[in-house]
Amino acid sequence: MSLRIDILTLFPEMFAPILGTSIPKRAAEKGLVEYHLTNIRSFATDAHLSVDDRPFGGGPGMVMICQTLFDAVEAVEKQDSRPAQRLLLTPQGQKFDQKMAEELARQPRLLMIAGHYEGFDERIIDGLQPVEVSIGDYVLSGGEIPAMVLIDSIVRLLPGALGAADGAADETFADGLIEHPQYTRPREFRGLSVPDILLSGNHKAIAAWRLEQRKLRTQQRRPDLWQNRSSAMSDDDRNRDRNS
Ligand code: ADE
Repeated sequence: MSLRIDILTLFPEMFAPILGTSIPKRAAEKGLVEYHLTNIRSFATDAHLSVDDRPFGGGPGMVMICQTLFDAVEAVEKQDSRPAQRLLLTPQGQKFDQKMAEELARQPRLLMIAGHYEGFDERIIDGLQPVEVSIGDYVLSGGEIPAMVLIDSIVRLLPGALGAADGAADETFADGLIEHPQYTRPREFRGLSVPDILLSGNHKAIAAWRLEQRKLRTQQRRPDLWQNRSSAMSDDDRNRDRNS
């Protein structure tokens, strides 16, 4: 069964270039994922097709109203019997990471709500109980780009999405380490050469060098990841790490 991704947005046209290119496109062609875009505005009921209104209590900006989003979520969920994990993109959400991508890639169906304007009427969150997700501590003009970030990182994890040549297993973050340096031809470029070990043909030594590089880089560049990894490791792992 493929993963169904529903996207509720005011700007469905923003998604076409991403979903229609590269791995997200190929995954859909292979039947691993289906994308269903719904324009929230098509659920507006007044003459102005409103989806937002001024905040009670005053203040700048506009707030997404309840009715259009409740109606949209209920109508879209009825289109398929698979239960949907509801996700709402907001800078106030839980920080998205590789672990969350892996969990979401195992779901049968995801429903992403991408809002615009200052925010959502809080009753949307209380009533629809979505998982609120943030892609980082910065504010974008809407949830569309964050939804695309989620989709791209989730879809490439679906079994069969990547070719044999580009497997996801040994990538950055797969085991809490960032990637080792990579080189390709030529062996020498403007006086810069490729480390000898990579030309040695000794696969065991190469694997050991790469692991060492990943550890060094993680310690130097991402002490936060290194710290998490050390505290999550058992003594056995630590011993194995020390001896490898
Ligand atoms: N909407 C606006 N900014 C966002 C962010 N950083 N993450 C998720 N959704 C957002």
